[in-house]
Amino acid sequence: MIKRQAGETMPVVITINGHPYRRIVEPRLLLSDFLRDTVGLTGTHVGCEHGVCGACTVVVDGLAVRSCLRLAVSCDGSRVLTVEGIARRPEFARIQAAFEQHHGLQCGFCTPGILASAVAEVVHRDCTPQAIEEILAGHLCRCTGYVGIRRALLALGGGPS
Ligand code: FES
Ligand code: FES
Repeated sequence: MIKRQAGETMPVVITINGHPYRRIVEPRLLLSDFLRDTVGLTGTHVGCEHGVCGACTVVVDGLAVRSCLRLAVSCDGSRVLTVEGIARRPEFARIQAAFEQHHGLQCGFCTPGILASAVAEVVHRDCTPQAIEEILAGHLCRCTGYVGIRRALLALGGGPS
């Protein structure tokens, strides 16, 4: 096992939304802090910082990941998709329309994480309604009561809305 000294830093290259970011970081830096503070992509929200609320979810190498539970150094060489990148993807118009039609957001704090899960697990898959319930179980929303979000996700790929 490699022992690291306090204050030691490491180089990383993380491709975020198609752009490679080269930075020198401390090994303890969370991916969520890398995104928000080091790179300035503040669309990814941070709520609990304990892996519970799902607000910080992003897509890492195709998988929905809690960025508050990942170290930036563990993403060296990875491809990360955040809500800023999702908003530039061709399928975003369809996602936006579904959330608008079904009233899938209110304050929007939980929305970037839910959109990341939607892109990773719903939009490009044949997702069952049960799978959508499991995705929703990983995202806390204090506003909507989940009804509109559920309908939006169902419309996007989980069967009839
Ligand atoms: S901030 Fe990461 S799960 Fe809540
Ligand atoms: S829309 Fe406000 S927390 Fe979900």
